[in-house]
Amino acid sequence: MDQELPTYHVIIPAAGSGTRTGLNAPKQFQTIHGRAILDYTLDVFENDPYCEGIVLALPKDMASTFVPKHSKITNIVAGGATRQSSITNALAALNNIKDTDLILIHDAARPYLHRDDLAKTLRAFKQDGVRAATLCKHVNDTLLHTSGDRPDRSELYALQTPQIFEYGLITKAHQQATTNKHTDDSALVTALGESVKLVIADHYNDKITFAQDITMAEKILPETVTYETRTGQGFDVHAFDDGTSEKPLILCGVTVPHDRALTGHSDADVGLHTITDALLGAIAQGDIGRHFPPSDATFKDMDSAVFLEKASDLVKEAGGKIINIDLTLICEAPKITPHAPAMIARVADILQIDQRRVSIKATTTEKLGFTGRKEGIAAQAVATVKVPEYE
Ligand code: CTP
Ligand code: MG
Repeated sequence: MDQELPTYHVIIPAAGSGTRTGLNAPKQFQTIHGRAILDYTLDVFENDPYCEGIVLALPKDMASTFVPKHSKITNIVAGGATRQSSITNALAALNNIKDTDLILIHDAARPYLHRDDLAKTLRAFKQDGVRAATLCKHVNDTLLHTSGDRPDRSELYALQTPQIFEYGLITKAHQQATTNKHTDDSALVTALGESVKLVIADHYNDKITFAQDITMAEKILPETVTYETRTGQGFDVHAFDDGTSEKPLILCGVTVPHDRALTGHSDADVGLHTITDALLGAIAQGDIGRHFPPSDATFKDMDSAVFLEKASDLVKEAGGKIINIDLTLICEAPKITPHAPAMIARVADILQIDQRRVSIKATTTEKLGFTGRKEGIAAQAVATVKVPEYE
């Protein structure tokens, strides 16, 4: 432990709605490898020996029900309409604190903060005798202002967090602020005539802002969960009707031209039923009949995509991910191969996975048995999923 560094309390504003991601839930609660982005951010401070406590600002409707997993969280406050007001509320929750104590402010949406950059910011504060410091980076893109001006990027910095302040200074800056719309706290301190020390980050610390930043987070954030691989198998059979019904033949969500349809309570999609059972098997969640009893009239003529979506939801609830599906349809007729690409696309779409994770193929039984006599279609499938390891 570097004894030179000062101790501090950190405020984490996590009360924003993340509108720029275009997603339904705020970005800080989006999960990466089964954990919320906010948890990765909190880990940095939970693991930093100089951090004495965390004040977390959460959306109003969550503040009273949130169950903290990090032991250093001392206060949870309801955020405000703007980032600035969320931090004002968090500052008010701090007590037993001296004006010269250090308050660090760090966005929940910056989960990448490297401990060396955190230490670098604290060290600058300690050594340079400043009362305010912020992590920042140089601007790398060429800039164009809407006015047509081209600002010189070598004269510009992109401000990040953490920002560090003496408690007395940042409290006064918030009290004296003339608007509540500032997107960083160093601006409020600058307005009081105070200088802010700039500390250049040595590591990637961009804020998660747009949907593609969340895709990127999947690649960058480490998997802290250990996964195990599970396999499930499914088997199903449906009989052909006599060819007089109006019902189409639906296989793997695709209508296949044929002179007969399959009989069954739902749409009789033997392909989707088999994949559903394989997935349920992989997570030990029984079978399709347990979740959708045939005795229940609601499921009559049901689009079997609903069953598969349910299995997919259960995999997600288990914190899991589908690795692959391999389905074999067993019949003399119709010919499956011409329809396989459409079936693969449909299954991948229902499961929201890459098409390369789905295999659909077919075989005959050389005219032997009920499939050989064209009395029906059988199907078997294997599904592989990864799920968090049991303790
Ligand atoms: N924040 C907050 N309270 C608000 C607004 C923002 O605590 N009323 C937090 C966010 O949760 C985020 C940080 O401040 O951790 C930085 O804000 P920003 O990136 O702008 O996040 P959002 O406001 O949530 O996103 P957007 O601007 O796209 O809506
Ligand atoms: Mg915002």
